[in-house]
Amino acid sequence: MSFRTTPSVDYVEDVSPGSGALPPRAWYASSDARSLSLNGSWRFRLSATAGAEDDSFAEEGYDAGNWAEVTVPGHWVLQGDGAFGSPIYTNHLYPFPVDPPYVPTENPTGDHLRVFDLPSDWPSDGGAVLRFDGVESCARVWLNGTELGEFKGSRLAHEFAVGELLKPGSNVLAVRVHQWSAGSYLEDQDQWWLPGIFRDVTLLHRPAGSVADFFVHASYDHTTGEGTLRVDSGVDGRVLVPALDIDVATGEPVTVAVEPWTAETPKLYDGVLATDGERVPLRIGFRTVVLEDGLVKVNGTAVLFKGVNRHEWHPERGRALDLETMREDVLLMKRHNLNAVRTSHYPPHPAFLDLCDEYGLWVIDECDLETHGFTEQDWRDNPVDDDRWTPALLDRAARMVERDKNHPSIVFWSLGNEAGTGRGLTAMAEWIHGRDPERLVHYEGDWNCRDTDVYSRMYAFHDEVEKIGQQLDGGTHKRRELPFIQCEYAHAMGNGPGGLADYQELFEKYDRLQGGFIWEWIDHGVKHAELGYAYGGDFGEELHDGNFVCDGLVFPDRTPSPGLIEYKKVIEPVHIEGDGANGIVRITNKQDFADLSALAFEWSCQVDGETVESGSLSVPALVAGESAEVKLPEPPVDGRGGERQWTVRALLANDTSWAAKGHVVAWGQFAVGARPLPSFPATDRPVVEEGRITLGPAWFDARTGALLSIGGVEVGATPRLDVWRAPTDNDDGAEWQTDTRYGMLWRTLGLHRMRHRLVSVEAGDDALTVRTRVAPAAREVGLDTVYRWTSDGERLRLSVSVTPEGDWTVPLPRLGVRFGLPEADRVEWFGGGPGEAYPDSRTASMVGRWQSTVDRLQTPYVRPQENGARADVRWVELGGLRIEGDPEFWFTARRWTTEQLDAAQHRTDLAAGDTVWVNLDHGLHGVGSQSCGPGPLPQYFLKAEPVEFSFVFSTTR
Ligand code: GAL
Repeated sequence: MSFRTTPSVDYVEDVSPGSGALPPRAWYASSDARSLSLNGSWRFRLSATAGAEDDSFAEEGYDAGNWAEVTVPGHWVLQGDGAFGSPIYTNHLYPFPVDPPYVPTENPTGDHLRVFDLPSDWPSDGGAVLRFDGVESCARVWLNGTELGEFKGSRLAHEFAVGELLKPGSNVLAVRVHQWSAGSYLEDQDQWWLPGIFRDVTLLHRPAGSVADFFVHASYDHTTGEGTLRVDSGVDGRVLVPALDIDVATGEPVTVAVEPWTAETPKLYDGVLATDGERVPLRIGFRTVVLEDGLVKVNGTAVLFKGVNRHEWHPERGRALDLETMREDVLLMKRHNLNAVRTSHYPPHPAFLDLCDEYGLWVIDECDLETHGFTEQDWRDNPVDDDRWTPALLDRAARMVERDKNHPSIVFWSLGNEAGTGRGLTAMAEWIHGRDPERLVHYEGDWNCRDTDVYSRMYAFHDEVEKIGQQLDGGTHKRRELPFIQCEYAHAMGNGPGGLADYQELFEKYDRLQGGFIWEWIDHGVKHAELGYAYGGDFGEELHDGNFVCDGLVFPDRTPSPGLIEYKKVIEPVHIEGDGANGIVRITNKQDFADLSALAFEWSCQVDGETVESGSLSVPALVAGESAEVKLPEPPVDGRGGERQWTVRALLANDTSWAAKGHVVAWGQFAVGARPLPSFPATDRPVVEEGRITLGPAWFDARTGALLSIGGVEVGATPRLDVWRAPTDNDDGAEWQTDTRYGMLWRTLGLHRMRHRLVSVEAGDDALTVRTRVAPAAREVGLDTVYRWTSDGERLRLSVSVTPEGDWTVPLPRLGVRFGLPEADRVEWFGGGPGEAYPDSRTASMVGRWQSTVDRLQTPYVRPQENGARADVRWVELGGLRIEGDPEFWFTARRWTTEQLDAAQHRTDLAAGDTVWVNLDHGLHGVGSQSCGPGPLPQYFLKAEPVEFSFVFSTTR
């Protein structure tokens, strides 16, 4: 028997952070020192195990001509059309046996090879550094055949000194990347497992006397209006800030009058740090972050965080993001009124933080640390409570803080996410507090706040949040002294989140509550040829968490979902409320710092949803927190007695870096008077002949009472009671919330299989009355439903009365009628729009005249589910019909049935049929955010109780 010697791969399962890398330091791009990007096409060879191949590929002269190629930055599993394996999605379960620090022998290993030419004018003095900005999860590196070292810490920068090894002409860089390593135990974030060199690889010239590392300290004293700047640098030099006439030595403080940096007013001063060897551009923001009076204050003012959790995601490139995608995220956030971002759950590409500095977003920078899977074994062997791992934890903390310390946008360092509690976390917090006392420390997992400067929680329900706001939550003495944030709340999975406005009300009511961060920014759908977007399980993973990875405020292609539109309205920086009858509007500046001078205001008046007059509104430049009442002009007189309402908008007065002049940041609507309800004299009498009943413009089947047509418009399926909706992710709820998972309870009760029993059809003097009982098989509940049809000769009115029978222990998904139209495409309505709304996610629904098509009414949730309802609809026109509601109703139309929508797993499962299915709902159940949070609040429950509602049908042809 003979054995083949394999290279040692012990480092893969070693708890240490690695060896050979340089100490961490600030990340920056020098103004004059040379650099060479090594991004691009690399040779690539995939092996099934860590030690399958020897390291001869790293030798100069190795012929990799028959290897495949991959793009760096990138993940190999997202390249090669499946030839290089597939992504795996798990939420908190490790996709390998929990046996720390060991990982499976099957350990996909990608050898990467890049031959590059050193530019002929590359300076020969000084040294050079090779920088990796992100490699998942463990890499071993060689340059020109010499091993540089190995490292773990996927989303952190690692540098190696390579000056001695570089050669003129051709150089060979070899990188062996292992998908699994001891580091994987520290990176159990809820996301796809995606191996590869997924961020930039750069060669940096380090001239003699260049800046090794530097730390910008730029504080702001709000009592004097002065900023103090001190730049500490490893190498002495000068600090120049021309706009402030600053020219001081490094290490020397200087105090001058400045404009402070805030997320609302992100004033940056350009400066230079000049040493003998290089000039480094500085972007200085003066601000002071403190914990004072139990509050997080910046520049003396308590901040309300209106934030979001952002993972790095691109549907084709995974976590390999280009600058334009990062900018798109920041612009979308700013345009939707967000002011904060938590970099869940790892430090992002550094360029993202530059954008946060520039455009203005408060940042919680989170360390690349999560050990959530240990919860399955009651946290036994948790690395954060095992001293052997502490060096790795401290290495991660240092790599985050040192890399990112010069960003004014960062106000909190976060130790990581969902890692339980333990000595290692305490060690990290102590180190961070010592290294950077000018920022605060965050970590959610420790509810006693032993190591943190803020009490942070995730998914606390509204009632608990209110208690915390009232200081009635108890807890340790230290915790009681701290402000509260929800680092995650309002799980944006599928249709939802509902209940946002209710949270915001609490945040604004209690000082201790300093806001929160929605979970999460983007759906991590993977672009897929057959499925549209793939989610967990679509790659045949043996363990996975399905579409729990699609829970963002934007769809995978970054189109805003209704959740983002709702959030924008809920957190708008200006509150506009009015007393329409008296023509008074009250404007409140809800910002923390800026006055209203950047905004212009406009009023308009609508009659029946159509704007008839508009003009500009003069509003004083209220300072933050101030309110004023402003008088509106006289409302226009409307001879026809239509419905009149005011709309007041706050718009950007000028172009900004993130949106153009005219961009709407806030709005309010209020009625001049009540809506005049449709009047309807029942004049016609139903006439029965030859199996048909004629009533005004309509024909009915005399035997069943089914409506067949109105004024020649065929009705495919008669309007009949409908209570079912395709359960949303939030209806289905999280597995740990057993008693309120209505999606399942509804199904158990049989609400998706209601039967309609015809009791009677009565053609009376002035009405056709159809009595029915609607109930599921085998259950003791039912809905007595009476349809009463009348006509005024031209139009047809349907009045539905519903009386529940039996003991209804669950709310109804919906209550209304559904019918089919053979042809419909364009839709016009007067009511809430333009997007979808549900009872607890309707703040952004603006009353007006809206137009769309049946296809565009659909909201493309990655996993199909109930969607697309429009709120407060007075009337809608589609398919030749006009339908007016008394009272207003919810309107939905789609080219498939609710049952088909319910059965679909991906959008590609939905095929348009011949019929357009229309739902006119008197009520809908709220949506909540129970996929990982509270269900709808009680006031948004659709209770089964006696109701009556009606619709007037006429034709538009
Ligand atoms: C949290 C976790 C997030 C994500 C979320 C649910 O517990 O921190 O990473 O898993 O739940 O989507």
